[in-house]
Amino acid sequence: MIAISHDCSCETNPLIPQVCKVIAVTQETSDVKSFRVQTLDGRIPFSFVPGQLGMFGVVNHGECMFCVSMGGEDWIEFTVKKVGTVTERIHQLHPGAQVTVRGPYGNFWPADACKGRNMIFIAGGIGLPPVRTFLLHTLANRSDYGRIDLVYSASTKKDLVFKEQLFDLWPNEPNMHVHVSVYRASDDWDGPVEFTAPYLESLGLDITNTTAVLCGGPSLYRTCSKALANMGVSDNDILTTLEMRMKCGIGKCGRCNVGSKYICLDGPVFTQAEVNAMLKD
Ligand code: FES
Repeated sequence: MIAISHDCSCETNPLIPQVCKVIAVTQETSDVKSFRVQTLDGRIPFSFVPGQLGMFGVVNHGECMFCVSMGGEDWIEFTVKKVGTVTERIHQLHPGAQVTVRGPYGNFWPADACKGRNMIFIAGGIGLPPVRTFLLHTLANRSDYGRIDLVYSASTKKDLVFKEQLFDLWPNEPNMHVHVSVYRASDDWDGPVEFTAPYLESLGLDITNTTAVLCGGPSLYRTCSKALANMGVSDNDILTTLEMRMKCGIGKCGRCNVGSKYICLDGPVFTQAEVNAMLKD
């Protein structure tokens, strides 16, 4: 059984926004961009552990909670899908623009508890950014983990994020296997056309000593957790993040509770067994 830490202590005050600057923008798809940010004097805005979130915004326009999708020595990156007023404004940002950043929020992926295990990362669409930092952690500490599989899907090839890592970098990592499917066929795609859950089951992966990490919308989450159960993966060995429910992030707005738990204070990372218990509360 995997123990998830709820110790989210950090040295920055997640209530105080810092004025930061955008140092790079990557267009991932037609409606998804990644923004690399650092403080005005060139430091990382806050330290984070893979799985944690930050509040990212534009003065006078608002801010939203996003999982950190990547981090370097002096920067962090947020990957943002354009879905509303604030994210539309964020999408207009260019390198050099001033933004506000605060964090970190929430608990994190239990990377230490997964040492010695095989890992299956499963994500759909914009669900890949929240698991990417964990995946990168396993690759940076390769000898601590066994076989790594990534099962990732999106509507079409154009909707897949992080294409360079997906197709050029990760398939060349030792003992890493990248499986990509799309939901709709197109002329530029000659790979599998299948929804994530049946695709996952069709792969025939060995689930011995394996932890599954799952992130996607409600439909993907429901169907893939069922697929994992069909494959024989225990609910204690399935990790997921309910990060989409994080709003204020500090237990004040009352918009994230499931049963008796507050996702922002108790999560957002949980085992499937913990999620099942919350739903029965
Ligand atoms: S996100 Fe506001 S109370 Fe949890």
